[in-house]
Amino acid sequence: MTDNPRRRIDTSVAHSARVWNYWLGGKDNYIADQVAGDAYREAFPRIEVMARESRAFLRRTVTYLAAEEGVRQFLDLGAGLPTTDNTHEVAQRIAPDSRIVYVDHDPLVLLHVQALLDSTPEGATAYIEADMQDTETVLARAAETLDMTRPIALISSDVLGHIVDFDEALGLVERLVNRLPAGSFLALSHSTADSPEHARAQNAYNASGAVPYIFRDPVKEIPLFFTGLELVEPGLVSWPNWKPDATTGNATVRAGWGAVARIP
Ligand SMILES: C[S@@+](CC[C@H](N)C(=O)[O-])C[C@H]1O[C@@H](n2cnc3c(N)ncnc32)[C@H](O)[C@@H]1O
Repeated sequence: MTDNPRRRIDTSVAHSARVWNYWLGGKDNYIADQVAGDAYREAFPRIEVMARESRAFLRRTVTYLAAEEGVRQFLDLGAGLPTTDNTHEVAQRIAPDSRIVYVDHDPLVLLHVQALLDSTPEGATAYIEADMQDTETVLARAAETLDMTRPIALISSDVLGHIVDFDEALGLVERLVNRLPAGSFLALSHSTADSPEHARAQNAYNASGAVPYIFRDPVKEIPLFFTGLELVEPGLVSWPNWKPDATTGNATVRAGWGAVARIP
């Protein structure tokens, strides 16, 4: 029997990709996602601004990698539901021959995959439905689209909080980084507690049965993802402070941090 992702979608509990889509103003979400998203916003009204700043950080980092570093290959972990300025759109706007591989494990993303596969003719996009922790599968499937001997930007945009165990999250990044050729990059962002209200909203969300997301400390924990790598200026900072441009929004948002690093 052929696989029908629709049958595998659990609409009874909130899922990250769909709640994220709800906060970003998308329509690909269900009642459980909206209830969880509304409860969160009531406790922490800046959540939607934060989601937009996270996406803006992703857009600026992909722009930098394609335009300034000449990167033409991207491996995007936890792609999420298609929205504006998906990684391939940003990269291919600068370099139409860019090749992008997306990974996600939510079957709803698979249903919307066409928008992620809408590549320029010169470039390529591919989608892997997999748990990103299964790094061997991710690497083997990525090699069908990417040249694993040439620089690749590993993108991890606000997904590692879903790996509840911190050492496992670190290990996942380390396993992938170790297999990328010299001259590759890691672009990583991670949410953190912006205020006690934010921490309380996240704790309530995690306790509600939704797929949990664990905040990590920007001084003691997030830097460890970059161990042994060379941080590109301005280093690890809160999202709006990473190479801000004319469209960067609220510089006071400190609910997420990120950096780009060169893999030696
Ligand atoms: C907060 S969303 C971020 C989406 C996108 N990267 C962005 O920056 O807008 C997290 C995404 O990670 C995906 N995800 C969570 N755990 C995952 C796992 N173990 N393997 C693959 N994808 C995962 C979720 O399905 C969701 O789409």
